[in-house]
Amino acid sequence: MQKHMASVIHETGDPEVFQFEEIELLEPDSDEVLLRHTAIGVNYLDTYYRSGLYPIDLPAILGDEAVGIIKKTGNDVVDFKIGDRVAYPACKGGGYAEVRVINSKQIVPVPESISDETVAASLLRGMTVEYLVNRLYQIKSGDTILVHAAAGGVGLILCQWAKHLGATVIGTVSTESKVTIAKEHGCDFPIVYTKVDFVEEVKKITEGKMIDVVYDGIGKKTFMDSLDCLRPRGLMVSFGNASGKPDPLDVLELSKKGSLFITRPTLFEYARKYSELLAGAKAYFDMLEQDIIKIKIGKRFPLKAAAEAHLYLQDRNQIGSPILLP
Ligand SMILES: NC(=O)c1ccc[n+]([C@@H]2O[C@H](COP(=O)([O-])OP(=O)(O)OC[C@H]3O[C@@H](n4cnc5c(N)ncnc54)[C@H](OP(=O)(O)O)[C@@H]3O)[C@@H](O)[C@H]2O)c1
Repeated sequence: MQKHMASVIHETGDPEVFQFEEIELLEPDSDEVLLRHTAIGVNYLDTYYRSGLYPIDLPAILGDEAVGIIKKTGNDVVDFKIGDRVAYPACKGGGYAEVRVINSKQIVPVPESISDETVAASLLRGMTVEYLVNRLYQIKSGDTILVHAAAGGVGLILCQWAKHLGATVIGTVSTESKVTIAKEHGCDFPIVYTKVDFVEEVKKITEGKMIDVVYDGIGKKTFMDSLDCLRPRGLMVSFGNASGKPDPLDVLELSKKGSLFITRPTLFEYARKYSELLAGAKAYFDMLEQDIIKIKIGKRFPLKAAAEAHLYLQDRNQIGSPILLP
């Protein structure tokens, strides 16, 4: 049995729980491929599993997103061959490893013009934005939206895509240093929400009309105030928990605040069918190839430094998404 290296957790907790160890390499089943990773994504989602916020079976290899080269294929795999360069954006776990086995219906081909590092830093986030702006709600010219953590990984992509579709983009950032980068990526009105009340700022910017859609990946700290930014019948998209999960909501609040809509979506649900996974990836890659969306890679870490990569992602002073290089 061949061995390979992976960053593994045996318990949940702070980033120190990662251990770099040798694990057994499985043979691909008939519908699977064996992939040698070339770059691996590090997402906020991974921190939820590591910390124990989301339940997980242990020991575990985290990481839902990576890019690599196919080294072996199972007998029934027809869409891919050895040597193909492919990526996956939404496979639960197994990413923080040199090599992995994965079902062929979870991988997508990668255009030659897009680098491994760009794919690893952004495919999951980019495909998330694709469903947020095209399918969950179709952003159109004239819409005004609020993007929390506008200078974060998802935030920078969301600002660029929504701006391209004609929306006015209001965004929140924690520091003055993030204002410029948010503006450079399509955010018309960055609000430093650590210094001012963002609901009051939204009122001023929109002259009281308020917001059509709020995209909230912060959770606990912003959830209730985000509802107060919406116009009557506006849409609250709660899609993450960077500050912890939101407190329970009394549904009557939605009627009191103006017949609001609320949803708590995941990429996994919006890429459930293989046709959706392929279409979402293609739509995102098209945006990169047309230079409509630019990706800011943060820091490159060796695979064994998964703990440092998590600390970097959770450090609010950093800008750009970290990646792991095997
Ligand atoms: N549902 C889905 O389909 C889906 C898919 C992908 C990602 N997500 C969610 O999207 C969000 C962004 O993910 P990402 O990987 O791109 O991360 P990220 O935006 O690069 O980092 C998270 C950001 O959250 C902000 N933040 C606010 N309060 C925080 C706190 N207490 N601790 C840490 N950060 C805090 C920080 O920006 P400021 O310092 O400027 O506030 C930070 O940059 C996450 O909530 C993630 O779970 C959801």
